[in-house]
Amino acid sequence: MGIDILDQRKFHLYTNNTSYVLQVDAHGQILHLYWGKRIHPESLTDPVRTTPILAFSPTPYADDPQYSLDVLPQEAPMFGRSDFREPLCQLRFDDGTMASEYVFESYRLTLGKPPLLGLPSIREEAGDSVVTLSLTLRDPSYPLTMTLSYSVLESFDVITRSVSWHNEGSSPYEMERALSMTVDFPDADYRLLHLAGAWARERGEVWSELGQPKKVSVESRRGASSHQMQPFLALARPHTTRDSGDIFATHLIYSGNFLAFAEVDQYLTTRIGIGINPSEFHWILNGGDTFQSPEAVLVYSDKGQNGMTSIFHHLYQERLIPPAFRRVERPILLNTWEAAYFKLSEETIVSIAESAADLGVELLVVDDGWFGHRDNDRSSLGDWHEDRNKFPDGLASTAQRVRSLGMKFGLWVEPEMISPVSALYAKHPEWCMGVPHRPPSLARHQLVLDLSRQDVQDFVIDTLSQLIEELQLDYLKWDMNRHLSEVGSHGLPPRQQQETSHRYILGLYRVLEAITTRYPQLLIEGCSGGGGRFDPGMLAYSPQIWASDNTDAVARLAIQQGTALVYPVSTVTAHVSDVPNHQTGRQVSLGFRAMVAMSGVLGYELDPRRLSDEDREAVKEQIRRYKEVRGLVQFGYYTVLETRDPNAYGWMFRSHDGHQALVFYFRLMARANYPRTRLPVVGLPLERSYAVREWEGHGQWLSTNGGELRHVGLVIPDLRDDYQAVVWEVLAL
Ligand code: DGJ
Repeated sequence: MGIDILDQRKFHLYTNNTSYVLQVDAHGQILHLYWGKRIHPESLTDPVRTTPILAFSPTPYADDPQYSLDVLPQEAPMFGRSDFREPLCQLRFDDGTMASEYVFESYRLTLGKPPLLGLPSIREEAGDSVVTLSLTLRDPSYPLTMTLSYSVLESFDVITRSVSWHNEGSSPYEMERALSMTVDFPDADYRLLHLAGAWARERGEVWSELGQPKKVSVESRRGASSHQMQPFLALARPHTTRDSGDIFATHLIYSGNFLAFAEVDQYLTTRIGIGINPSEFHWILNGGDTFQSPEAVLVYSDKGQNGMTSIFHHLYQERLIPPAFRRVERPILLNTWEAAYFKLSEETIVSIAESAADLGVELLVVDDGWFGHRDNDRSSLGDWHEDRNKFPDGLASTAQRVRSLGMKFGLWVEPEMISPVSALYAKHPEWCMGVPHRPPSLARHQLVLDLSRQDVQDFVIDTLSQLIEELQLDYLKWDMNRHLSEVGSHGLPPRQQQETSHRYILGLYRVLEAITTRYPQLLIEGCSGGGGRFDPGMLAYSPQIWASDNTDAVARLAIQQGTALVYPVSTVTAHVSDVPNHQTGRQVSLGFRAMVAMSGVLGYELDPRRLSDEDREAVKEQIRRYKEVRGLVQFGYYTVLETRDPNAYGWMFRSHDGHQALVFYFRLMARANYPRTRLPVVGLPLERSYAVREWEGHGQWLSTNGGELRHVGLVIPDLRDDYQAVVWEVLAL
């Protein structure tokens, strides 16, 4: 059933491959015993205290002078009571006390997985056999409880965790830290993996060594999960590769400020944690109130990075994205942004759409520039009605003309923002986020709408609903083009100002929940200046996210590989754009650009009317071929192939039954007499026979088998010039 309870005090949470064991000790503290490969934990007892001598580690219980939380692995480390490492939470009581004390009171096992109040979380479905363990701890001196929740999704090989705090009294408490989970590891023999970057350089894989006492923090204080960091962190054993070795990962289902950390202590044990960033967070927990933390996903694999990736992909595809889009092939779209920027009109859009429809494009997306007086990025956010100079007959007429070409119609919006030059600002300046005496900083000439306010949330819900209905939208691109500064709300009293960041995210989720409930078939593509809010929280509402504003195919290789480390390929959108590339100025062939985009959710972001006849034919062929394989690319089993070459990338998309695969190989710079000539293909059944041929130009079929592909590899043809791609089709015989 996923959880065994031994002696009413030891809890074994398990999936087919993973065990997670915790235990209540004699003082009512919850100790962490184990996380890793599935074991039978009968003989696991109290953790061995890491040192027999307590040097400078205080002892909180007078009757147990050898007991210090400073040296014990815990599930809910408290602040101020003998443990000097990073705590799970921190509260200030009405008498000024900050030291906390939680003692185990009871546990509850429930079949299923209750949704989290106001927050997105992994969905449960009938037949999932999910079981949830809730451990309630009580403060012996103040009327306060803390509940640790663990849901075991046995068939997904995943455990999720979250925490809630409940004030049972009448005096308010001030919460200063409320993480979603911490885990203690018995040693520090790990390398830490996280994803980091910047605008147009999102989610590169970054490795750091642990091994010595230190703390590594991965965090965002930007009001969004951000381009810069990802609410993800993994510890891998030093020998872990793409395909083998232990890796332990956590990912937070949240879109705002977050903190993830790994702390190696004096005894070389390692604590990791993840949750809302305590910086910019302060929450008044009034009598009777409950505070719920976001959900953290915990994944363990002994099959290296690819093993971890496949667990995240499966979980997010099946139980996080909106159910209406589960395993639904994504439409091939053409987006007007790099084709026309703000120079939009009915005639421009219709003629682009005509040209795109002829290519086989299925969805036309009108990007920024259609509303208010939006001829540049200096005005009109908030005024969500079409510019009649550009659309004299109204946008509904344009939408109708696009649809009559057999295409779907989609629109860009940036609902969380407001331009100071807008009718909305003139009417409601108090709807902007801001603090007294500090003029709000502009970014991209815009301010942030204060989504912590219910009237603002309602305005956004109503405005979007009207647009969706009037234009019968099939698709919405939901953009967000600045981070939050001077964070405060005109709707909150001074002592609650530091609640604004989290309330903003709760408000955003309320809006998204309302829209996706009303219009479950509407395809929302998340975006924040590219991939600035590519996070599991947004994925719960937007089944695909614009991975980066950088459309350069070469730069995209690292961005898409980093993104697909945790996110399913069906969520990662990738467009073929014009050359020279608008972000880097680089020129690469149309074929290379297409292969990179076809390794994600393919779209186009160029003016199709300007394609040469030859390129038009090539694009038609790309679209025709992508339609044949998109099910495999978007929903197949994805693996990164170890090219052992920093100048090359290799990816495989394999059908779940192992009958069919596509192998992509990308080489960056040309070198004469290239030293590497083979690409090992890991992940196909070794004993099975296959036929292989180059996809491009329909090469000759050669017969081989899984063992040969793995241990010998595909022969890489002689490639001339920089930026070359080879794709092989692999079919079971
Ligand atoms: C940023 C997005 O990432 C772009 O694709 C485009 O939609 C612009 N915003 C429009 O302002």
